[in-house]
Amino acid sequence: MLGGMNDRTDRPSRPEHRRLAWRIPRAGSLANLRFVEEDLPAPAPGEVQIDVVAVGLNFADIFACLGLYSATPAGSFVPGLEAAGTVRRVGDGVTRWRPGDRVIVLTRFGGYASALNVGEQYLWPLPETWSFEDGAAYPVQALTAWYGLVALGGARRGSVVLVQSAAGGVGLNALQVLRQLGAQPVAVVGRESKRDWLVREHGLDPACVVLRGPHFGAALDAALRHLDAAAFDLVFDAVYGPSFRPAFERLAPEGRHLLYGAADFMGEGRRANPLRLAWRWLRRPRLDPLAMISQNRGLLAFNLIWLWGEAARLPDALRETLALIPDPPHIGGAWPFADAHTALAALQSGDTTGKLVLQVDKPAVDSPRNGASGEGSAAAAR
Ligand SMILES: NC(=O)c1ccc[n+]([C@@H]2O[C@H](COP(=O)([O-])OP(=O)(O)OC[C@H]3O[C@@H](n4cnc5c(N)ncnc54)[C@H](OP(=O)(O)O)[C@@H]3O)[C@@H](O)[C@H]2O)c1
Repeated sequence: MLGGMNDRTDRPSRPEHRRLAWRIPRAGSLANLRFVEEDLPAPAPGEVQIDVVAVGLNFADIFACLGLYSATPAGSFVPGLEAAGTVRRVGDGVTRWRPGDRVIVLTRFGGYASALNVGEQYLWPLPETWSFEDGAAYPVQALTAWYGLVALGGARRGSVVLVQSAAGGVGLNALQVLRQLGAQPVAVVGRESKRDWLVREHGLDPACVVLRGPHFGAALDAALRHLDAAAFDLVFDAVYGPSFRPAFERLAPEGRHLLYGAADFMGEGRRANPLRLAWRWLRRPRLDPLAMISQNRGLLAFNLIWLWGEAARLPDALRETLALIPDPPHIGGAWPFADAHTALAALQSGDTTGKLVLQVDKPAVDSPRNGASGEGSAAAAR
């Protein structure tokens, strides 16, 4: 895939503007994520330069900074998978976008920046009634919910679906997809407060909101009984860990366990804890494929970032996602751009609900020494 594409530092460039960005010299510790001012070259042919107004935060950003995400670029990089802003200028050959257009941006890293260059195929018009925060909060988590549950999982009316981390960003999108389809969700959360919040704010049936914990299997059985269902058709799971097996074992024949993350590996520190990781790794749940044949059920694992390399499929993917999730997500917290560390600590705490965003109040820092308007070579820092 396009590892590091947003982030090259090895090519000569003709910087045109200065920008602010959160950059980490190499993955390993969140403490090394630094607020820097740096050059931004003119957009290359086929690219669009965006003044970023809001940045969406994802769990993957933390995993990338800790070095626990296989797609992480080697060496220095700017994290961030999504943002929203306005088009500042376009590179040669771009006809679809004009300066001033309000856009949603999907980035394969590079989103934590006050301005960036991105291929025109990774932009979508920001719906008129949406704020920039709404736009920055939308694509990754909404696409993840659609891709996992619908494109891969085949969720449909009546499907009984277990949704892990249901009060989180992806989880709330998943609940919306299932509501639109007429499926029956069983929501799982890690805190009592989130359970109350889902019941109070999202109208979930309290009998269908389950707390992860020591009696997880029994709690799932009670929820299934309440729905008059024998088993789950789908499990939508980015937690893994000890809650994996009780869920997998309650899959119906033809059922699919959709695994798309491993939040259980996440510690609380700014650096990955090798002992904790080793312990989690040794005790990780394992499956026997031969037993899966006789049980007629399966595990399907995915990473949305794979779709980045399938740019031609993205417009249809976003169209289908918007049809099922037409509204912007619940934003659970917004921080000034300079406070990224506080925002990431909140996300890492596991206490948040909905989506967290950063707000960039200054678009980019214009450089007095780099006022040239020349066409850029490939970006040095995007
Ligand atoms: N594969 C992909 O393409 C893809 C794409 C997007 C997101 N993801 C994954 O989906 C998950 C949700 O992402 P998100 O951005 O929407 O985040 P989020 O749900 O807003 O936050 C993550 C949630 O994970 C749960 N969690 C479980 N164990 C945890 C631990 N040890 N430490 C902290 N939190 C823990 C917490 O909720 P509860 O305790 O309530 O469960 C927490 O709120 C993440 O694991 C992310 O990596 C994967």
